[in-house]
Amino acid sequence: MSTVVDALIGKVFAATRENRSGELADYIPELAAVAPDSFGICIATVDGFVYEVGDTRLPFTIQSISKPFTYALALADRGSGAVAEKIDVEPSGEPFNEISLDPRTERPRNPMINAGAITAASLVAGPDLDTRFERIRAAYSRYAGRDLTFNRSVYESESRTGHRNRAIGHMLRSFDIITGDPDEAVDLYFRQCSVDVTCRDLSVMAATMANNGVNPVTRETVLDPALVERVLSVMSTCGMYDAAGKWVYEVGLPAKSGVGGGIIAVLPGQIGIAVYSPRLDEHGNSVRGVEACRALSAELELHFL
Ligand code: DON
Repeated sequence: MSTVVDALIGKVFAATRENRSGELADYIPELAAVAPDSFGICIATVDGFVYEVGDTRLPFTIQSISKPFTYALALADRGSGAVAEKIDVEPSGEPFNEISLDPRTERPRNPMINAGAITAASLVAGPDLDTRFERIRAAYSRYAGRDLTFNRSVYESESRTGHRNRAIGHMLRSFDIITGDPDEAVDLYFRQCSVDVTCRDLSVMAATMANNGVNPVTRETVLDPALVERVLSVMSTCGMYDAAGKWVYEVGLPAKSGVGGGIIAVLPGQIGIAVYSPRLDEHGNSVRGVEACRALSAELELHFL
């Protein structure tokens, strides 16, 4: 089996490596400082094998791939009902950083766009900001199966330039979606985006979702299976923002991207896929990441429909 998977990801890697289109995210200055042509692909199985090719051990910040994992923590802390009163589960068709609420419900449309993600961060329990972030970092680490670290320079870079996210935070406060300090919620969101991961880590995190919330490498139970189902549902419909429809049409897997250049995709019951390549398309999704996932889905017939 291993040689078949190794050969397949090697083939997809070689074909996709030629694509040098897309640009680095530079609205957070520190994100423009990475090597633009780094590229890695990992597949982690629910029985704990990890297949990898390329730059799979290079650290980069998790960025928006944090969103489903913080949403999961908010669901576990507050319960699905309480979270649903604050965050809807409808695809928005909007860019990730849209300053928007659904005019009918006056809630963020989903937890994958920034408005919903900042709300999810605000719902993570804990007595103070440092404790709440430590709970988030520890939770991500359980999915990855190792202690993940915080990238202070990316955090400071985003914090210096994150006016749009602050605008979203204050909008949420004015509609009583966030009831505490909106600057704290936004700061927690900036911190969660600045956790360093590798492509290998992301594949194990995705495989933990594929394995019904049990990390397939450490065997630790990280999330209740009923909540895994909720999280994968919103990843299916909203994980790729205003490219979510095309993604489901072409790849057909629950997924999440980040402007650091990572993408995860989950085939429930089977595998977690992660790709790292930091050049992004106009939606903020990794160009090679989308292309590699499309190829893997076609080769392995992963499309869920
Ligand atoms: O909100 C932001 O600007 C970032 N820290 C995260 C955005 C992101 O990763 C969007 N995803 N593709």
